[in-house]
Order: sequence, then C-alpha cells, then structure tokens
Amino acid sequence: MLVSAKEMLEKAKAGHYAVGQFNINNLEWTKAILLTAQENNSPVILGVSEGAGKYMAGYKTVVGMVNGMLEELNITVPVALHLDHGSYDACYKCIEAGFSSVMFDGSHYPIKENVAKTKELVAVCKEKGLSLEAEVGAIGGEEDGVVGMGECADPDECKAIADLGVTMLAAGIGNIHGKYPENWAGLSFETLDAIQQKTGDMPLVLHGGTGIPDDMIKKAISLGVAKINVNTECQLVFAEATRKYIEEGKDLVGKGFDPRKVLAPGFEAIKAKVKEKMEIFGSIDKA
Ligand code: 13P
Repeated sequence: MLVSAKEMLEKAKAGHYAVGQFNINNLEWTKAILLTAQENNSPVILGVSEGAGKYMAGYKTVVGMVNGMLEELNITVPVALHLDHGSYDACYKCIEAGFSSVMFDGSHYPIKENVAKTKELVAVCKEKGLSLEAEVGAIGGEEDGVVGMGECADPDECKAIADLGVTMLAAGIGNIHGKYPENWAGLSFETLDAIQQKTGDMPLVLHGGTGIPDDMIKKAISLGVAKINVNTECQLVFAEATRKYIEEGKDLVGKGFDPRKVLAPGFEAIKAKVKEKMEIFGSIDKA
C-alpha cells in the first residue's frame, strides 16, 4: 500500500540520512526502482512530473501500475507516489487519482500567492492523509522544457511556507535540474544552514540530485536535507546501456529484438544507479 512521505522523511531527518525520490517514466523504471528499494530494505519515493504523467497515459494509469506492482512484487518497504513540481490543478488531479504525496510548486508566484495556495493545499492534504511538498526559490535547469537559473531561497520566506504545515520544503540553494555546467558555483551551504535554522525539524528537499558530488550531498544531509530528487542520472545510464546493446548489434542476434531483451540492460543500469544513490544517501536498511 502506498504511504504518505511524512513518516519516512521525519525519520530520515532525525536519523541524518535522506530518502531518494527517483522519477519514473514507464514500467521498466518503476519496477527497477521498486525492486531495488525492496532488495536494499530502503524507503523510496517515486516521482512523477506532469509531463511523465501525461506520457504514461494519465495519473490514474500510474496509480494502477504502481499499486499493482506493490502487490504482485510483494513490496513491503514504505513507498510514496509523489507528484513532482505540480501546478495547482495537477495537485488536485493527483489527489483524486490516488497519489500519496504531491508537490505544489508555487515558486514562480509572488510569495503571497504561493502562501495562499499552499495553505489551501495543506488543509486538503491533511484531511486526506497525503504529504505535501512546497517550494521556495525557483530551482533552475530544464524541467519539461522550462529552463531557469538556480536561485537561493530567502530563509524568511522558507519559514513562512514551512509554518503553514507542509510536510517537506524544497528550497533553492544554487541547485539546478539536469547536468551542472562546468562553471557551477556549487551548493550554497550558507543558505541551507540559514534555512534549516529558521525551519527547525522540517525535512528539506534537494532537487537536481544529478551530478552533485558525493561530499556535497553528505554535507547537505548534515544540514537538514532529508529528501533528494534524482531524475537525469537514471535517464543517462538507461540511454547509455540501451545504446551499447544496439551498437553491439545484439538486437540482430536471435530474438534480441524482443522488447524485453532490448530494455533489459537499461533496466539493470537503473537498478545499479538507484542502489548507488541509496548507499550515498544512507537510506539502506532504514525501511
Ligand atoms: P535531476 O534531473 O537533476 O536529477 O533533478 C531531479 C529533480 O529534482 C526532480 O524534481
């Protein structure tokens, strides 16, 4: 059964480790992540962007697929199904479809409007038992075709949103989605420290997990990050493994064209990447 991300993230924050949010794109992605979480006795969050939800034929299809896998694959570790960077409307659609967690990304609204909309969603999610992630300070990079630059959130604005009763808070600290440019200045630990001081026990979320060096990840966890989002890195290893299979001509040998065979190396590559991240985040055996 899907669970809200509240308990797993409160435990992570208190225990100084982080739970990974791995974004899903299809059946192979979902199965690879769920099996890896189970094999490593780790809690996990499946992230679904609006674009990925549309690609997978809608939120209800995603809920059906994930719930089916939890049962048929005997997944017993805590799993949350989470809307990633949701608009106000998408949050309501996912709540209705059966997600167990949503992110309302109101970071592009003036703070007053972000507060008002987040407040409304806090009440709805509380009533229905879902966890809610809010965002302050836009996280740059490219996400579903929208490109922005990494910002540093204002710690007072973070406190204003945290005080509304959200479950977890994403704050920009110079992180961006996708690959980091050569001249990236790194995470602003000064900002993160100031945010954690103002928000206390609130589990903080680090977006753009792809390409952040391990030592920065560990430092961020020590300063209150309890959820780390990874998307692009799984896409890169999946594409690399699939390319290798084709370049080696394996699809031309025997029944190598069978889609289950074509997609198998990418599936294994995602499993290895997710396990590697769970080790760095410290979530193994924390289910
Ligand atoms: P990356 O694609 O950079 O790993 O970021 C993922 C993310 O933050 C999803 O919200």
